[in-house]
Amino acid sequence: MVLAGAAQRLGRHAGNWLTIGPEPMRAGLCQSARASLKALAMTDERLAPAPKDWIMAIAPYVPGKSTTDDGRAVAKMSANESPFGTPEAARAAYRAAADALQAYPDSAAVKLRDALAARHGLDPARIIYGTGSDELLHLVAGTFAGPGDEIIFPRFSFSVYPIATRRVGATPVVVADSDYATDVDAILAAVTDRTRMVYIANPNNPTGTFSARAEIARLHAGLPRDVLLVIDQAYSEYLDPADDDGGLDLARSAPNVLVTRTFSKIFGLASARVGWGYASAEIIDAMHRIRAPFSFGIGSEQAALAALGAHDFIAHSNAHNKVWRERLEAEVATLANKGLRAVPSKANFSLILFEGEVSAETAYQGLMDAGYIVRWLPGQELPHALRISIGTEEQMTGLIAALRRIVGA
Ligand SMILES: Cc1ncc(COP(=O)(O)O)c(C=O)c1O
Repeated sequence: MVLAGAAQRLGRHAGNWLTIGPEPMRAGLCQSARASLKALAMTDERLAPAPKDWIMAIAPYVPGKSTTDDGRAVAKMSANESPFGTPEAARAAYRAAADALQAYPDSAAVKLRDALAARHGLDPARIIYGTGSDELLHLVAGTFAGPGDEIIFPRFSFSVYPIATRRVGATPVVVADSDYATDVDAILAAVTDRTRMVYIANPNNPTGTFSARAEIARLHAGLPRDVLLVIDQAYSEYLDPADDDGGLDLARSAPNVLVTRTFSKIFGLASARVGWGYASAEIIDAMHRIRAPFSFGIGSEQAALAALGAHDFIAHSNAHNKVWRERLEAEVATLANKGLRAVPSKANFSLILFEGEVSAETAYQGLMDAGYIVRWLPGQELPHALRISIGTEEQMTGLIAALRRIVGA
């Protein structure tokens, strides 16, 4: 037992040294460390491979729940998915793709890239795609950061950022928010010689807050040219056109901006796992080198293509989202005397703060009992908040009534 622990520790240190030590010493140490490890391993068969320290420092991603603890079916309003399912044309395209399942999909996703380029006025060669935008957030960290480097992101932001940062051995630098919104000055103040990247989501998850074009421009202008600004626009389709944050314009012209987007939200394709990104040719070329050869299946690509053309579905989703987000915020405003407050949102969810007698945990349990699963976020330093995805009219009406009952209104 003692020997096994010693061998694991030695293995870990040797592993680190083998990665970072000077070349001649590495070769020497390599041989003697391997010999010692082998000797120790032979004495105790419980010796096991040791994960990297920085991997074990990762708190695993917690997805939104879809059933209650006792297995009851409930309205899932915890993962910011489309409440209207998937556009019919996208479902039909996905079904039709079943006839081509024996073949590998197009590794270059040419049709999807061309369609996205035409839609947004982009160079198709500079579009990268991934298994959800999640994969792109990981790929970019793997391309531009490693041990000894720092990646900055706001305190209340997407929970994949710390995972993607630690996964590559880089150091997360978490900066303060400004009343739950992204604080550009706090980000700029945190930049050091070791900073390689900044992640921000706009609109932000889990707060729903939005940084206007001038703020994004100010952030970009204040960053050194060798620091990559990642603007995660997973919820941008819910914005009014006038609210464009200028991210794609920056990615068109600046050498240090990557914009990521997804088909998982308004397009109703979370399960298809299609995300895409736009940046300079050099950034895209570097990221492609570590991308898996096939990001998503043919059904996913065909469904995404069809969803891009589902204009009525998108327009309806957007209008519905706005109406019900505003109604939810207005209802919460009437519960201010109960300590409730909605953080102003531009996404397809609202973050509701519980600063009175009824706690967020109590409300979370009460809503679950009433048939609505929302997101309680103690793991993201928000034990006093619930993130509620905007659902159908029936779901929103029921949820609002339940919330009023729970807080005693
Ligand atoms: C801010 C943000 N970025 C990225 C994603 C990942 O989306 P996907 O991997 O489904 O494209 C999400 C999903 O919830 C998100 O909230």
